[in-house]
Amino acid sequence: MSDKRILVTSALPYANGPLHLGHLAGAYLTADLYVRYKRLTGADVVYICGSDEHGVPITIAAEKEGVSPQDIVDRFHEMNKKVFEDFGISFDYYGRTSSKVHHETSQEIFLNLHEKGFFKKKTEHQLYDPKADMFLPDRYVKGTCPNCGFEEAYGDQCEKCGTSLSPTELIDPVSALTGEKPELKETEHWYMPLGDKQADLEKWLDTRENWKPNVMGQVKSWLHDGLADRAATRDLSWGVPVPLDEAKGKVLYVWFDAPIGYISATKEWAQETGKPDAWKDYWQDENTELYHFIGKDNIVFHCIMFPIVLMENGGYVLPKNVPANEFLNLEGKKLSTSRGWAVWLHEYLEDFEPDLLRYALGTTLPESKDSDFSWKDFQARVNNELAAVLGNFVFRALSFTSKFADSKVPELKDPTQTDLDALKAIADQKEKVTSAYENFRFKEAINESINLARVGNKYFTETEPWKTRKDNPQACNNSLYVSLQICAALAVLMEPVLPTSMKKLRGQLGLDEGLTWNDISDSMLNSGTDINPGDVLFTKVEDDEIDAQIRKLEERAEASNPAPKFPALKDNIEFGDFMKLDLRAGEILAAEKIEKSDKLLKLQVNLGIEKRTIVSGIAKHVDLDTLKGQKVCVVANLAPKKLMGVESQGMILMAEDSEGNLKFAETTAEPGSPIT
Ligand code: 2FM
Ligand code: ZN
Repeated sequence: MSDKRILVTSALPYANGPLHLGHLAGAYLTADLYVRYKRLTGADVVYICGSDEHGVPITIAAEKEGVSPQDIVDRFHEMNKKVFEDFGISFDYYGRTSSKVHHETSQEIFLNLHEKGFFKKKTEHQLYDPKADMFLPDRYVKGTCPNCGFEEAYGDQCEKCGTSLSPTELIDPVSALTGEKPELKETEHWYMPLGDKQADLEKWLDTRENWKPNVMGQVKSWLHDGLADRAATRDLSWGVPVPLDEAKGKVLYVWFDAPIGYISATKEWAQETGKPDAWKDYWQDENTELYHFIGKDNIVFHCIMFPIVLMENGGYVLPKNVPANEFLNLEGKKLSTSRGWAVWLHEYLEDFEPDLLRYALGTTLPESKDSDFSWKDFQARVNNELAAVLGNFVFRALSFTSKFADSKVPELKDPTQTDLDALKAIADQKEKVTSAYENFRFKEAINESINLARVGNKYFTETEPWKTRKDNPQACNNSLYVSLQICAALAVLMEPVLPTSMKKLRGQLGLDEGLTWNDISDSMLNSGTDINPGDVLFTKVEDDEIDAQIRKLEERAEASNPAPKFPALKDNIEFGDFMKLDLRAGEILAAEKIEKSDKLLKLQVNLGIEKRTIVSGIAKHVDLDTLKGQKVCVVANLAPKKLMGVESQGMILMAEDSEGNLKFAETTAEPGSPIT
């Protein structure tokens, strides 16, 4: 066992909705791969996560449903905890930030910082809803976007044009709670002076080694722009109360309390394991390596804000690394829960095994740049890699042993160079996989792991045990011995990514449950050991299963975004372009059908200054008998054109409704009047 303790955290997901693919690919699968690998090496690892149960989105979700925020977090805490378990995400403890221990821990840290004089108290003016009697969080203010004119923009962002906004920038702001016009009202808040601590933070960051360029790059860019003060308190009713008499009715900013949730959950883990002080070994002992696994949107909080808070507080371990992932797209498009473009993890589990997604995502992780998950790629990974390479190799080795070697590991005698090379591949691949895991290169770790099965398949095919078993039984035995040793190595090497299937494989090989990473070698199975071949490890995913998933995704997206009633607006034109049009008021004098056409009518139109013949495709939309006297708008300077043998000298303007019906654009003006 290494003398270092390892503490791994995954971002605490908000308990305001179910989890999707993007969550898994961002902060959980990678952490779990790392933790499982480290545990196999015998390291002392504690893996902590939990629900982030504060923040405005939770209050909004509660209001939408007409229930309390506690109801919302209770529901999603349980649901998310279960889905993580079902996916084999092996937390040692899954806490929640509404717990007593968490409230106490975050209040204690706030108070300590307060006593040290860390916070700057500021008086400011914020939007206040007099009817709801509360200050409005940015998301609770709606109004017109000053950038694009969208009337439903939020106080923090316009979802139409994407501009970041502050609530006071909105035109005609209203409270999303009551529809009232908000007022500006004075309030006080406690700010973290992050800018004052920038130099200390930079000094610490300089001592960090081996950080991913995408992470350090983002951190450097924040630092380059200069850190601003950030409020640690909010005027809200849901959250951890600010522990100061003068701050009644205020709560801690969710990003102040959430990361402290890692500490609170470790305390609860320690209590649960019967060693209540054990949390200190992981948070307050320099011998601990702390790793935060997160998505890229959380970088600023984990690499800047939380380290500053802990540094100022003193006595806590700071992260050794923050191997953040970029974002996962879905079928080439940005994941969006509000647009229904997401694969929910609990729904995935209704159709497929967790290991399949662990593998497919693990080999497509957005490690250094955004990546894309597609169902076709999922199918290809399962069929061409898990089934055709790993499953097939294991099946060949085991079924052959059962048929021709009495289900026992044979002896290795007088191995050829080919046998020895294949055995050596075990150590070679183990070294590559180890180095990849140590450096947070998870895709590489998984690819190099399955490469050992590729070596195995190639070896099995080359040594042809189905032939040698007749004329050279020892050569056949050697093939099986080597293949089974490779299977055994794979069972441990691939356990981090495929925990369920590799457990099955261990069983089939009769491998000791206690075998660890250090035991991976070319002689993990003794000759004479019984093996018990079972079912194939992976079955192929059929086309219709994949088509069904794609259809489900598209149907959900369509239901979330019904087709717009009217077409989008065309591009802007110059005023000069508009002035080229000569639009006139007119009146229909007579109308008749055009022979052989069921669409066209021939109209005589009074244009004030002259009479025109106009051919118009409106026969199906109007009643011929009522057309005489109909006031219309006419494009009077459209070049004449022959339609069904009749020259049309202009065009009647019609409006098309959402069902495709045409109605006259009418005018009350005297025929001949220019429309400008
Ligand atoms: O982005 C999120 O989902 C946050 N709830 C993550 C919090 S991580 C930590 F600080 F708790
Ligand atoms: Zn906008």
